[in-house]
Amino acid sequence: MSEPFRIGLLGRGTVGAAFADLLGERAAAVEEATGRPVELAGTLTRSEGDFGEILGRSDLIVELIGGTDPAREYVLEALRSGRPVVTANKQLLAQHGEELFGAAREAGVQLRFEAAVAGVIPIVRAIQESFGVTEIDKVFGIVNGTTNFILSEMAASGVAYGEALSRAQNLGYAEADPTDDVSGADAAAKMAILARLAFHAPVTLDQVAYEGIEGVTPDDISYARELDLSLKLLGVAERRDGGISVRVFPCFLYGGHPLAPVAGPFNAVMVEAPAITEVTMSGPGAGGIQTASAVLSDVVSIISGEAPVHEAGSDLELVSDVSSSFYLHLEVADRPGVLAQIARVLGDNEVWVKSVVQRGIGDDARLVMVVHECRESNFAAAVAEIAGLDELRAPPRFIRVIEEEFV
Ligand SMILES: NC(=O)c1ccc[n+]([C@@H]2O[C@H](COP(=O)([O-])OP(=O)(O)OC[C@H]3O[C@@H](n4cnc5c(N)ncnc54)[C@H](OP(=O)(O)O)[C@@H]3O)[C@@H](O)[C@H]2O)c1
Repeated sequence: MSEPFRIGLLGRGTVGAAFADLLGERAAAVEEATGRPVELAGTLTRSEGDFGEILGRSDLIVELIGGTDPAREYVLEALRSGRPVVTANKQLLAQHGEELFGAAREAGVQLRFEAAVAGVIPIVRAIQESFGVTEIDKVFGIVNGTTNFILSEMAASGVAYGEALSRAQNLGYAEADPTDDVSGADAAAKMAILARLAFHAPVTLDQVAYEGIEGVTPDDISYARELDLSLKLLGVAERRDGGISVRVFPCFLYGGHPLAPVAGPFNAVMVEAPAITEVTMSGPGAGGIQTASAVLSDVVSIISGEAPVHEAGSDLELVSDVSSSFYLHLEVADRPGVLAQIARVLGDNEVWVKSVVQRGIGDDARLVMVVHECRESNFAAAVAEIAGLDELRAPPRFIRVIEEEFV
């Protein structure tokens, strides 16, 4: 009979407790898959256990504390002592990935993190293993379930952002303090991790530009519906202009886009590369048992000795001024010539209009347009000029749009 494989568990909250239960329930299946019985060597919480003693008794450490401190020290110590580590901690990886992966490489042990990105969707495994030698052009998708739920509620029932957020909180999809989710910061951390994986470049959280969904209005959503658009908070990591661009922003998608029907607290991630065309995966974005299941699959891979393709260094630079299509919402004086004047400002800045909806509102008019792909700096210059026109009644609002339906 083989020696038991001993797992040290750091954190026994939502995910840690679900992992401990799952490990017990699936012990026979894990033994069958790996050839080794598994057991918990100890658990660390704020009130229970000693890290040094647990490490000494463990063959592998599962880190489910969250945050960067003390998780960073514990993970580094475990790796340096030759123990592989599994973590679900996106903040830790997005802020200290270089140091942690360096420590794992130096010690020759694995650091796995499937559960840190897009919940139960096996996107890390797909990029590292299935597409490990594929030159990926773009990884993008819906990587925050809270914001997807809020936007889905706003679209389905026409409620304002605040009401949709309260519903998300009542259903347990949003935290009491939802700032990290709704500001796009949580998605930015996940995109830093995905960009590192896809492009082998040391992207950190502070290099990801992000915007949130707090400013979205029911008007934006109802006008967009007339243009067959649906609103998502997207994370995008892509090759652009000889470098890479990694961003998070609210974005309208055309009805036929594979991400358009992804609703509620679900996540979905797409990978594009010439060799694979396009692959889309979707599933629950969070939850104790779902996240624990992704953690357990990493544990099984490590016991089985499956090592992901190792990261190579890359000299790809981050580029900031990329091209996008935009939805532009303007409230203007309802006078002859205003539309022509706005079209002239856009044209002067090489921004071309694709479609326009115009509505009267008293003495004013609302113009909702979609513009073709243009340099974001050109669009920003046009919007700044439009904002200064006497005919404008409110600051311009704009949201990016993905125009293509399918590759
Ligand atoms: N919840 C999800 O759906 C989800 C989804 C994907 C990824 N994740 C990630 O999974 C990780 C865990 O999340 P969670 O929701 O399970 O968190 P949680 O419910 O807050 O649990 C955290 C656990 O860590 C322990 N802990 C906190 N600080 C500690 C310290 N200084 N020393 C020792 N133990 C400490 C806590 O101990 P006490 O019990 O003593 O408080 C608790 O047991 C995070 O990185 C999170 O981002 C979570």
